[in-house]
Amino acid sequence: MKVAIIGQGYVGLTISAFAGEFFDVVGFDSNQRIVKQLNDGISHIEGIESAVLKNLIRDGRYQATSDGQDIAESDLVVIAVPTPLTTFRKPDLSFIDAACRTIGENIEKPVLVINESTSFPGTLRNFIKPAIENYSKHLIEHSYAISPERVDPGRRDFNQRNTPRLFAGLTLEATEKTREFYSRFCDQLVEVSSPEVAEAAKLFENTFRQVNIALVNEFAQIAHSLGISVHETLDAANTKPYGFMKFTPSAGVGGHCIPVDPTYLAAIAEENGAPATFIRRANEVNLEMSEYIVNRVETDNGGSLHGKSVLVIGVAYKPNVADVRETAAELVIMHLRNRGAVVSWHDEVVGTWHGESSAPLSGAGISVVITKHDVVSERDILASAPYVFDTTGKVAGAKGL
Ligand SMILES: NC(=O)c1ccc[n+]([C@@H]2O[C@H](COP(=O)([O-])OP(=O)(O)OC[C@H]3O[C@@H](n4cnc5c(N)ncnc54)[C@H](O)[C@@H]3O)[C@@H](O)[C@H]2O)c1
Repeated sequence: MKVAIIGQGYVGLTISAFAGEFFDVVGFDSNQRIVKQLNDGISHIEGIESAVLKNLIRDGRYQATSDGQDIAESDLVVIAVPTPLTTFRKPDLSFIDAACRTIGENIEKPVLVINESTSFPGTLRNFIKPAIENYSKHLIEHSYAISPERVDPGRRDFNQRNTPRLFAGLTLEATEKTREFYSRFCDQLVEVSSPEVAEAAKLFENTFRQVNIALVNEFAQIAHSLGISVHETLDAANTKPYGFMKFTPSAGVGGHCIPVDPTYLAAIAEENGAPATFIRRANEVNLEMSEYIVNRVETDNGGSLHGKSVLVIGVAYKPNVADVRETAAELVIMHLRNRGAVVSWHDEVVGTWHGESSAPLSGAGISVVITKHDVVSERDILASAPYVFDTTGKVAGAKGL
């Protein structure tokens, strides 16, 4: 079976690597630089080793392309393209639309189309299917299914094989074909009654995280005002063996999913006249953390940051990955600069960002830790400046949340 995977980023390349063990995979990506790199056997994401890619290419089981005609012979197509927000913070389905165009214009026989991109309930039925039909030259009866992706880049204990996967087709035939496809490389498949349930479950999973992170971020502020340690309090609460799940405070949420997916849920809720109060407020609380942190740092440093040198340590949105999408470091740096601080940042995992390079981990007046990668030691962080504020709870001896 020939499988085309549209989008070769975190999700698409991961699926390509697993599916490549069993099927012939064409990885279609609109970014020609990524395509060239992949065809040279170089992986650009954590979790997929270049050696795995090289083996698949050597065995003729994987090829990357930017040419839509290369997917024409496919039997199954997976969509794994970005689903960001517009500048007005509304769901942006333009990448999905472009993927539908690639499928519609190039595939002339019935295939199974599976969407793995995260979007609101109804996207498969009311957007993807009509869009592909619209872009096709003739009416072709494709099958359609959804299987939302749960990959957590950089994570070693859970992967495609041992993470349960939700799925549902628009028809029974689509459901069965989807089960057959994923059962090769996923141990536990969970069929749900409709694509809308699968789409909604994915959004709710990430909304659950966003709301709980906001709650603990608010609680960090309460604990500070009470003069008690938020971390000790959370550890104490976590001794309860049931009915509690520990989340830890931070400078905010980052990545492609948690800051974005809840807004997809809120948007569809409000479109249907249902409330999304909690979701909207949680997003605000998480965004406000950056300013709260800068206020704390300013207060500890004589009430002014003007002209002071501040080193932000860790600009990736989470440890041990180079991903800076929606990183909380962005807002923290913005607030620091707005207050006149002279800001540089250190993150050897990210390397370069916004045309700036990672600065040495030393010589600052103030350090603020946003993300602690494993390669950076607590000792070096503490030695980087006379005053260190840690938002991660991982640097003993520093000031912090
Ligand atoms: N990254 C995660 O941890 C994660 C986890 C679960 C779900 N998701 C969801 O999966 C989807 C993809 O996310 P990602 O993290 O893989 O994104 P990504 O940015 O890492 O990769 C997307 C890729 O798609 C390519 N692309 C964009 N438009 C295209 C088009 N029209 N045709 C072909 N290629 C195109 C880009 O060049 C890029 O390489 C999103 O909906 C996201 O919410 C992501």
